[in-house]
Amino acid sequence: MDIWKYFDITHRYHILCNPTRLEKYTFIVSLTHLQPGARVLEIAAGKGEFITLLAERYLVSGVAIDASPYVVEEMKHKLADRVPRAQIEVLTMDAAEYRPEQPESFDLTACIGASWIFGDHRGTLAYLKEQTRPGGWIVVGEPFWRREPDPEYLQSAGYDRDSFSTHAGNVRIGEELGLRLAYTAVSNHDEWDMYECLQWYAAELYAREHPDDPDLPEVMQRVEKSRNEYLRWGRETMGWAIYVFLK
Ligand SMILES: C[S@@+](CC[C@H](N)C(=O)[O-])C[C@H]1O[C@@H](n2cnc3c(N)ncnc32)[C@H](O)[C@@H]1O
Repeated sequence: MDIWKYFDITHRYHILCNPTRLEKYTFIVSLTHLQPGARVLEIAAGKGEFITLLAERYLVSGVAIDASPYVVEEMKHKLADRVPRAQIEVLTMDAAEYRPEQPESFDLTACIGASWIFGDHRGTLAYLKEQTRPGGWIVVGEPFWRREPDPEYLQSAGYDRDSFSTHAGNVRIGEELGLRLAYTAVSNHDEWDMYECLQWYAAELYAREHPDDPDLPEVMQRVEKSRNEYLRWGRETMGWAIYVFLK
């Protein structure tokens, strides 16, 4: 089935498509003290909550990219509703292909929860660093191993041991690239539960409302597999944090 349709179904009730409480976003936005009109680049912006909060607070301009036409539609509506004056260009594309007109031109760059686009956490930070002006902010969200992953979990979920680092490792990778860590917000079980369980809830409601969708069996099968992996291993093994670096 269309992967973007699957994510649209399972993330229908999410505001943030990652395990972070919304209040933390507001706080992180407040830490950046951007100048009015600062330029921002957000990769894999999802439903656009982060860039909308930045625009509400600092009237930032810039670029928001996502590959899913579903979330891009929501992002455009959200920006038009909440910050109609903000000059944000919203692009539907594979962000790996995006090259800004000028490197090192953004005051803040972000990629929260989509580091695979640039290979991994290191590749993502390296890409964002190229686009960020000296002294600018780089905000990423990245999983980490809370403890050594069970080989059965790796096999079932299709991860390698090296797919992720530890929390300290995620910070170190930024430092190895010459970035300074300014802040980090680690999510707790409650945030993870909300992120995961909302997907099960969304799938259940979708099944009730669309019993004749030919994609439904696949949706339910995938959700069940992911739910079982979370309950058996993921909840104790996988961490998540937002990292706020300065270039
Ligand atoms: C885990 S979600 C995170 C979304 C958003 N940053 C948030 O935290 O709410 C991952 C996002 O990456 C987008 N995505 C996946 N592959 C992409 C690609 N190659 N280029 C751009 N966006 C992509 C998905 O559509 C999805 O919105």
